[in-house]
Amino acid sequence: MKKALALTLAATMALGLTACTGGTTSSGSTTGSTSGTTSSAAGSGTGTSQVANKDKPLVWFNRQPSNSSTGELDMNALSFNKDTYYVGFDANQGAELQGTMIMDYIKANIDTIDRNGDGIIGYVLAIGDIGHNDSIARTRGVRAALGTAVEVNGAIDSAPVGTNTDGTATAVKDGTLEVNGKTYTIRELASQEMKNSAGATWDAATAGNAIGTWTASFGDSIDVIASNNDGMGMSMFNAWSKESGVPTFGYDANADAVAAIAEGYGGTISQHADVQAYLTLRVLRNALDGVDIDTGIGTADSAGNVLTDDVYYYDEEQRSYYALNVAVTAENYQDFMDSTKVYEPVSNQLDATTSPEKSVWLNIYNSADNFLSATYQPLLQNYDDLLNLKVEYIGGDGQTEANITNRLSNPSAYDAFAINMVKTDNSASYTALLSQ
Ligand code: BGC
Ligand code: CA
Repeated sequence: MKKALALTLAATMALGLTACTGGTTSSGSTTGSTSGTTSSAAGSGTGTSQVANKDKPLVWFNRQPSNSSTGELDMNALSFNKDTYYVGFDANQGAELQGTMIMDYIKANIDTIDRNGDGIIGYVLAIGDIGHNDSIARTRGVRAALGTAVEVNGAIDSAPVGTNTDGTATAVKDGTLEVNGKTYTIRELASQEMKNSAGATWDAATAGNAIGTWTASFGDSIDVIASNNDGMGMSMFNAWSKESGVPTFGYDANADAVAAIAEGYGGTISQHADVQAYLTLRVLRNALDGVDIDTGIGTADSAGNVLTDDVYYYDEEQRSYYALNVAVTAENYQDFMDSTKVYEPVSNQLDATTSPEKSVWLNIYNSADNFLSATYQPLLQNYDDLLNLKVEYIGGDGQTEANITNRLSNPSAYDAFAINMVKTDNSASYTALLSQ
């Protein structure tokens, strides 16, 4: 049914376009526009759209508008206008996968994992951003799976412990593991938020330094390294664990991390960036075309693009699309070597008569973030061509929101916006600009 509707809309639009040659005033969606405005919902690729900036399609991605202390979603930002969405991934499902992947590894390698043979399996944990809900979920997932989690106010404590040499830290407890009739203790020896002195979080260089400090104080008590992402994980791997043979686990399935599995990197999680990057631009495309939002997502578009529910789901109440995660280990890493390849089921070029070129302003919160710059942005750049979107990519420094918002001084020049905030609480800095 949805498909039929989408096709009808597409046909209506094609007629609308043939009738209009100017292209700057009333091209784009006409009848069937979900915007309800009489002027073009789609604006024009040249940026002379008549749509008010506050009514243009907006997608938040990677950093979900939410309170950085409580995690509560910022529904004002998520429903800023009727064409506003969030695209991310299922943080809890991924976090659980990461924790389980590490625990499975420990069990499978129980005879060799305890390097100093004291019966304690020690791990250290690199935390990305204590106020980022994905980072919090991953810390919780690792602690839950390893039996080191402690609850506060009904949720697992995700606070960094600093150091915990003797197991007395309060944010975690010692876990116990029984294998082959032998009981081991699992201890979080240390954990820290990897924030550099300028304030950038998920900072790989900081993690590389931290592992130096940790190995100096814990030496061969460190048996496993867990990291909230691959950027930090690979920095620790290259600085120490590759040579020492200590399994290191990250998240993101960046190409360098996947390749490192052949050299002893323990494993990573794919958050299906290929699906997320597609969805990020696709929801804008659909809103600009005035077609059903499910077009090319759950419902095949006329080019044959469609996603199946084993790779994503949509939560209507949260106005959020979530990709599903997959564990990448020594068993299957060969299938994940190319992290910037478009996802085949959604790799078909859209027809420019029904989906004419539109311009999009898009920012990456930190151009030095390994995941966003090495995996996500190259994917976006592959999809923008397929979706006939002319995207302007803005790179931030990871710490100053104004550095990014300053470069959104002329929102009228764009048809749609894709935003990756520095801090999840900062949505208003952007929506204020669009509301002027
Ligand atoms: C990624 C991290 C990245 C962060 C930035 C997360 O989804 O896993 O690698 O640094 O997003 O917001
Ligand atoms: Ca030990």
